[in-house]
Amino acid sequence: EKGGFEHFMLKEIFEQPVTMQEVMRGRVRHEDGFVRLGGIEDYLDRIRDARRIVICACGTSWHAGLIGEYLLEEFARIPVEVDYASEFRYRNPILDEHDVVIVISQSGETADTLAALRLAKEKGALVVGICNVVGSTIARETHCGMYTHAGPEIGVASTKAFTAQVIVLYLLSLVLSKDRSLSRHDISLYLRELGEVPEKVSRILELNDQILEIAREYVDSRNCLYLGRGYNFPVALEGALKLKEISYIHAEGYPAAEMKHGPIALIDKDMPVVFIAPQDATHGKILSNVEEVRSRKGRVIAVANEGDEEIARLADHVIYIPSAAAPVTPLLNVIPLQMLSYHIATLRGCNVDRPRNLAKSVTVE
Ligand code: M6R
Repeated sequence: EKGGFEHFMLKEIFEQPVTMQEVMRGRVRHEDGFVRLGGIEDYLDRIRDARRIVICACGTSWHAGLIGEYLLEEFARIPVEVDYASEFRYRNPILDEHDVVIVISQSGETADTLAALRLAKEKGALVVGICNVVGSTIARETHCGMYTHAGPEIGVASTKAFTAQVIVLYLLSLVLSKDRSLSRHDISLYLRELGEVPEKVSRILELNDQILEIAREYVDSRNCLYLGRGYNFPVALEGALKLKEISYIHAEGYPAAEMKHGPIALIDKDMPVVFIAPQDATHGKILSNVEEVRSRKGRVIAVANEGDEEIARLADHVIYIPSAAAPVTPLLNVIPLQMLSYHIATLRGCNVDRPRNLAKSVTVE
């Protein structure tokens, strides 16, 4: 049942080139820039006319929501707010029929997300679901929605469901941008970028042995910092969550530029820092952050693009991955972080599929 893999988590990480194709199947025609999301078709005008979109979710699904904020604002130019479902529901949110609420949940059963959905409905908002489990409570109670089609996710640490959620948000942002904020040409360019992702992920998965070797050096760490910017700030949060939940190492994710506003005080030889450093507009800034960490004896693991020699001079380890347009980079950068957490946790003898104190679906509030 684990398909020859030692754990479900590893199987699910390695399934991603296929599950990513599944999300796109029947929804995307890469040749001519065609995207269709059947599940929301009848509500498309209402979503396009939304005064604002509020995304509610928990945990990893909330991280997908943060990436969704960047995507929706950049492609569709609709203002977006992202909230933890547990915070949203207890603060009497300002919401009415001009708002659209998107709830994201792998299981479709998370108690706080379900309560947020019900509250949003009560207040008259249109509620759109992004769920993995077909027929789940959240999927049934939303007005409309899209399934992520990632297949059953057994490992408690979410991996393939996360990348599927990000792809659904990417497609949704493109659908909403049509005839408005993006030209047909731009849409087909972004679809082509997305179409190349599964193959690039396969290439990243080939780095498994290198990542295992890096993991060996950090097995005894007690803390770890993850830094990224823009689209990859939420990836830093997700990398840190993955590490803490399965290896029990304390980890924090931050926007890289915030390092100077506090976390830099923590840096010494015992504080590994994982940098997500794609070659984009902020690359130079990230390099100077890396230098700052090095000068305080912090150890640096960088996820960077093939051909980036500058970073190799500064970092202790570089995981080289294929480059891509900024909006698809979270789908690539998160893969080595999933693998790194998996290896550190298994080397520490942790039960990665069933980490202590955690449940696959959190049905208590
Ligand atoms: O099923 P959901 O997506 O609603 O679950 C939300 C969180 O409980 C979940 O993502 C949790 O944070 C995972 N264990 C993360 O790997």
